[in-house]
Amino acid sequence: ARKIWFTRHGESQYNEKGLIGGNSSLSKRGECYARALPAELEKRIEALQAEGQGQPLSVAVWTSTLKRTIETARRLPYAKVQWKALDEINAGICDGMTYKQIEVQYPEEYKARGKDKLCYRYPAGESYMDVIQRVEPVITELERERNCVVVVAHQAVLRALYGYFMNVPNKDIPRLSMPLHTLIELTPLPNGTMSAAFFPAD
Ligand code: F6P
Repeated sequence: ARKIWFTRHGESQYNEKGLIGGNSSLSKRGECYARALPAELEKRIEALQAEGQGQPLSVAVWTSTLKRTIETARRLPYAKVQWKALDEINAGICDGMTYKQIEVQYPEEYKARGKDKLCYRYPAGESYMDVIQRVEPVITELERERNCVVVVAHQAVLRALYGYFMNVPNKDIPRLSMPLHTLIELTPLPNGTMSAAFFPAD
């Protein structure tokens, strides 16, 4: 069966410092993940090909337009497409800050987000509801696509995609666990739903 793989980008320099948003490059650890990812995927692809009596599989790689996903996908030997719709949630006036800084500088915003993470929209930025809408065209294409697809994206965006395919209620999407340096494999089941498996690759 066809697979869809999700992975966050490798750890970025912003992740290292606890800063949200931005467009930083990978950290040393993140680079390590980018180097490990091709073999990890190749393992999964070989397993699939063994099931399918050696039929060759076509694989496409979809990234966001941000450096950290492009750098993570750099060594993957498959055709690549960049999607603006896969860029991370826009944190507006909070972009480039730590959660602590937001709590001190914008206490009302911090509280409001804690209360309703799904609907809270960063001033001059986006909410999870916005992201869930924004990724709809990506979902349409993923459902249409016949090849295997590796989606290299970001925490909030992958929560939205994973939530859609795994039938997670919207209210639970913003707090789904989406660990770094992990390959998530989705497999379509005969009843039309999907199963998911997490493969840490650090
Ligand atoms: O910290 C990494 C990051 O991708 C940020 O860029 C983004 O704002 C955040 O995660 C989204 O996660 P949460 O919605 O839990 O703040």
